[in-house]
Amino acid sequence: MQYNCAREMCGIAGYVGHRPAAPVLVDCLQRLEYRGYDSCGIAVVSDAGVFLRRSVGPIAEFREEVLSAAPTGTIGLGHTRWATHGRADLANAHPHASCDGAVLVVHNGVIENAFELRERLVRQGHRFTSDTDSEVVPHLLEQGLTEGLSMDEAVSKLPSQLVGSYAIVAVRQGQDELFVLRKGSPLVVGVGEGEYFPASDIPSFLPYAQRVIYLSEDEPFAIGRSGIRRLQGAGASRPAGPYLEVPEPVSLNVESVSKGSFQHFMIKEIMEQVGTIGRLLESPPATLATASELLRGAQSIKFVGAGTSYHASLYGQFLLATTLHLDSEACVSSEFQFRADALRPGAVVVALSQSGETADTLQAVRIARDRGARVIALVNSEGSSLTRAAEVVIPLRSGPELSVAATKSYTSQLVALTLLVERLSPDPMEGARTALEARDSLLELTSDAARAHIASLAHNLARHSQLLLIGRGGNYVTALEAALKIKEVAGVAAQAFPGGEMKHGPLALVAEGSPVILFYDRSQVDQAELAASELITRGAVIYTVGPQPLRSSSLHVRVHDAGAATAISQIIPMQLLAYELAKLRQLDPDHPKNLAKSVTVL
Ligand code: M6R
Repeated sequence: MQYNCAREMCGIAGYVGHRPAAPVLVDCLQRLEYRGYDSCGIAVVSDAGVFLRRSVGPIAEFREEVLSAAPTGTIGLGHTRWATHGRADLANAHPHASCDGAVLVVHNGVIENAFELRERLVRQGHRFTSDTDSEVVPHLLEQGLTEGLSMDEAVSKLPSQLVGSYAIVAVRQGQDELFVLRKGSPLVVGVGEGEYFPASDIPSFLPYAQRVIYLSEDEPFAIGRSGIRRLQGAGASRPAGPYLEVPEPVSLNVESVSKGSFQHFMIKEIMEQVGTIGRLLESPPATLATASELLRGAQSIKFVGAGTSYHASLYGQFLLATTLHLDSEACVSSEFQFRADALRPGAVVVALSQSGETADTLQAVRIARDRGARVIALVNSEGSSLTRAAEVVIPLRSGPELSVAATKSYTSQLVALTLLVERLSPDPMEGARTALEARDSLLELTSDAARAHIASLAHNLARHSQLLLIGRGGNYVTALEAALKIKEVAGVAAQAFPGGEMKHGPLALVAEGSPVILFYDRSQVDQAELAASELITRGAVIYTVGPQPLRSSSLHVRVHDAGAATAISQIIPMQLLAYELAKLRQLDPDHPKNLAKSVTVL
C-alpha cells in the first residue's frame, strides 16, 4: 500500500491539574500558533469518556465551538499543525486515536520508519484514518496494551520502535496521567501548583506556570497531579521512579507573550527593539569573552543560519572582513552539509538562530561537531536544543518572538555580532559606540511621524506584485532581509540584488513603473545616484533608504549613517514597510501563508 507520509511540524500542549483542561489547552495552543496554524485539535479525558475535537484552520475559529461543548475533565492534550507533507485537512489534524479511541496522541517531528510500522500494524488489524506518520504512535501503544503491556511499558517501548525525531504527549482513557517522550524535537514541562503543562515551548503555558523542566532525550515520563515519574525507557539513562530534579524558574514574564495594546505581535516586536537592543548593549552576555577567545584561535570561521538568521550570518561575515580584515564564510544551514568536507582542524562554526530549534541549523552544528569544529551559538530562545548543542552560547535576550516574521531577534543578532567582533578589534569601543548610535536613531525611526511616512510608502507599493531591493556591502544584507520580510508577510515577490549585479541580468525585470528600493550609506551616494539614473532610464520608480535623498528619489526614508552598525537601524523602516504592506493587502502579518516560525524538520 502506498501512502503519503505527512511529516509533522507543529505545536503541542498537554494539561493535567485541577482546572477544566479544554480552555487551558485552547489557550496554550493559541500561544503556540506561531509553530503552525493549518489545523488544530484537542482531546480531554474524563469520566464522561473521551472528548475529541479537531478542526482545519486557526485556533480562534475553533475556540468558540470547542469550548461550548467541552466537558470539565482536567486532563487532556492538544495540537496545532503546520503541514509539511500531507494535506492540511481534518483527517490529518491531531490528536490521533487508537482503533478503540481510548489512546490519544499528539506528535511533533518526523517518524522515519512510519511506513514499515504502519504496514505491520495494518497486518495486525489496525485501521488508519490519516496520512500522517504520527498515527502509528496510538496504534503502537494500543498494540502493546493488547499484548498485555501496561501503559508504562507500552510507552517505554516507543524509543526502541520509533526512528526519527519526536515530541509526543499521550493519554489513555481511564488513566489519570499524561505520558511524554521526546527525541530531537522540543518538549518542556511547565510546573504549577499541582498542575503540569507539557508543551513545545515555554510561552505556551507562561500565564499558568513560571517553572520549567527541560526533558532529556529518549526518556519517557508519566505526569500526574502529584508529580512526574521517570519510566524505564530503552534510552533512559537513569532508573525508573519519581522525578526529583528541581524545576528551573522561567525568566520570561506574561506581558512578553501577549499583544498588549498592539494589533499584532509583529508590530509589538518591531516597537520593542529600542529596549531589546539597549539591554543587550548595556549588559553584554558574559560568554562573549569565551566566544571571542575561541574566534581568536580559529583557523577558519564559518557562520550558519537559516532565513533571517542567515542574513545575520552574512552580516557577521561582512563585519569580520571590514573591521578585522578577516576572511570567513556565511552558509545557509541546509547547505552546510555540502561544504563540510572542507572543514579543517581548528575551524570555529558560529550558529545563529532565534528559536534554537531549526532542524537545518541543528544538523549543521551536529556535522560541525562531528568533524571536530568548535561551535558558538547566538540564540534567543532559552533552553532550546541549540543551547545544548553548542559549546559556547551567547543569549540574544530579546524575549519571546511570536510573530512568524523575525524582527527583534534579527537586530539582536546584529548587535551580538557587533559586540563579539568588537572584542577582537584594536579599538574595542568602536562597535558599541556605533551600535548605540544606531539604537538611538530607533526612537526616531519608530515615531508616529516615521510610521506615517512608511505607511505612505506602503500605499505607493501596495498594488505592485514585484519589488526590487538593491544595496552594496552591508546595505545588500539589509536589502536581502527586507526582501524576505516583504515576501513573507506581504506576499510580494521582493528580490534583493547587489547593486553591481543589476546589469548582469536583473535589469531585465525593470519595466515602466517598476518600484525599486535603493539602500546606501554616506560613502555610496554617488554610486547610488548612478544606479538610480540607470534604473530610471528603464522606467523604474526609485525609493531610497539612506542618510540623504538622491536627486531621483520619489520618496526617501532617512536613516542616520552609523558606519557598519547602520544595518541595525536601516532594517527598522523595512520591517514597518512589510507590516504596513501586509495590512494594506489584507493579510495577517503574524500568520504568513504556508509558513511556521520554527522549522523543526529537515
Ligand atoms: O529560529 P531561526 O532563527 O533558526 O529561524 C530561521 C528561519 O526559519 C527564520 O528566520 C525565518 O526565515 C523567519 N520567518 C524570517 O522572518
